[in-house]
Amino acid sequence: MPQVTRDIPLLETWSGTSVPMHHGNQMSGKTSQTARPRGVGRPPHKKARKRSIIAFEMIRLDRASVEPLHQHLYRQIRQELETGSFSNGSWRLPSSRLLATDLGISRFTVKLAFSKLHAEGYLRSEVGSGTFAADPLPETLLRVGKPNGRPEVERPPRISERVRKIPDRRTGKQFDIGIDGGPRATLVPGVPAVDEFPIAVWERLRAEVLAQKGAHLLRYASSHGDADLRKAIAAYVCDFRGARCHPDQIVVVAAMQQAMLISAMALIDPGDTAWIEDPGFHQALRTFIFAGATVVPRPIDPEGIVIGRSFSQPAPKIIFVTPSHQFPLGITMSLARRRALIDFARARDAFIFEDDYNSEFRFNGPPLPCLQGLDNAGRVIYAGTMSKILYPSLRLGYLLVPEQLVDSIIKIRAVLDQHSSAIDQATLARFLTEGFFLSHIKRMRQLYSERRDFFIEEFNQLLGDHFELQIPEAGLHFVAWLRRGADFPFIRDIAAEVGIKPLSFFCIQAKPPPALLFGFASWTKAQIRESLLKLASALVRKNGRVRGRAFLNPSTRQVSSWRPGAATQTRA
Ligand SMILES: Cc1ncc(COP(=O)(O)O)c(C=O)c1O
Repeated sequence: MPQVTRDIPLLETWSGTSVPMHHGNQMSGKTSQTARPRGVGRPPHKKARKRSIIAFEMIRLDRASVEPLHQHLYRQIRQELETGSFSNGSWRLPSSRLLATDLGISRFTVKLAFSKLHAEGYLRSEVGSGTFAADPLPETLLRVGKPNGRPEVERPPRISERVRKIPDRRTGKQFDIGIDGGPRATLVPGVPAVDEFPIAVWERLRAEVLAQKGAHLLRYASSHGDADLRKAIAAYVCDFRGARCHPDQIVVVAAMQQAMLISAMALIDPGDTAWIEDPGFHQALRTFIFAGATVVPRPIDPEGIVIGRSFSQPAPKIIFVTPSHQFPLGITMSLARRRALIDFARARDAFIFEDDYNSEFRFNGPPLPCLQGLDNAGRVIYAGTMSKILYPSLRLGYLLVPEQLVDSIIKIRAVLDQHSSAIDQATLARFLTEGFFLSHIKRMRQLYSERRDFFIEEFNQLLGDHFELQIPEAGLHFVAWLRRGADFPFIRDIAAEVGIKPLSFFCIQAKPPPALLFGFASWTKAQIRESLLKLASALVRKNGRVRGRAFLNPSTRQVSSWRPGAATQTRA
């Protein structure tokens, strides 16, 4: 309890009646009816309503606290009002002068506290009569701190159908995908190596753009996006992704998530059909449902999304695909399927949404040009994100849209949140134009390539008996297929502890054989090994026998990293 700085007894009324103030724990113990009245300067008017003065005897100000005194006082008065029974509108507060004297603080401090309480609706003033506890007090506060009150009937809020329809496969209490896995999690798929991001360079460029453009960057910015950034992105996608566009077709957005939402909002009316890949990106499913679409999951074959003979079914308005690296299976869409998809979209008056989320990280084989580069019919909306190349919390990405959609897309962005941070956009423009972007990609590709090779080797060594690792040409994760389906339930539970999700998490109707998704990009070799060992060790414990070349050390109960001819030290 904070230090007691005063010792004031009670509360009294104009009529001279003393009213014990505290309900509950009497701290000072001086609740004597004989205590000297205070705060009463004039006799009661004959016809005056009986009015009581709140004594605030429980107020304790801690002068050592870092909290400003007026804030401290405000909080305590508010608490008294909440927990007291001052609901008939006749409870008067002592004058600011009196309270200041009693508490040994300045009147200004008291007035500051009172004015905040006024502003929040706890107090009301009557000209010539003083300041009173409001009746009723702000509603929300009447609900709290009333342990003896009758509990209110809990009624669930009337949430919109739109929210209720969002597929919700949470693991914890809160729907917050950002904290997926928690601090113990490793090998979460698709997370880039954020600790390798050149923060110093970024900060220098940021300081430079601020010094150059100054307050201009603090104003509302264009919903289309920073002009220099759009120019730099257009040059990048044309040079490196085989796209064909003008900078005016680029719209800067808040990463892939918003790229999908804006495109869906532009094309989908309630009930319209959206095709998405199955298995596929769970955020795409949520987004299209949120936008009111009827989502039709489409299977994946070795060439990519299956188009099928779908002429008897409603034509999709939008088709979501990940052609460079199908998420999560890692398939690269064949050229033939790309052409067929564009033809289909043209024939059915649909748009293709091309999510090119990590085409930069390709390790084998030549990259295929993006779908947009093959499209002569203005049917492809191409989208890129900085989440994998730079870092996900930047929330920057871009749309390359057919000319006829540009205006609608900008209109939607203007309604949603107007624009992304102007400072970040200007910094990113410099990052791109000054060559840091390409050199960062090059460096990361090298790093990821090394981690990927290490992962493959370690995985096969430690877990090869349980899984068959599928090795894709690109991307930051692997799919590992279980050799024995019966092992799946316990392997899934063990894997969840290190943040690994089963493939089934990404399925809608698809029923692939059991598999898990392993990320490798964000962790050092030592961390990769540690997580794989943990998993292997748990499997050995569960199985009670040694599988593969990993073996259980009986003293440490850990799988040893020993293997014939290899050093026991974990490599850096
Ligand atoms: C298929 C796919 N697209 C895009 C993204 C990135 O989304 P965002 O740019 O909103 O961070 C991810 C992230 O994991 C993904 O898996």
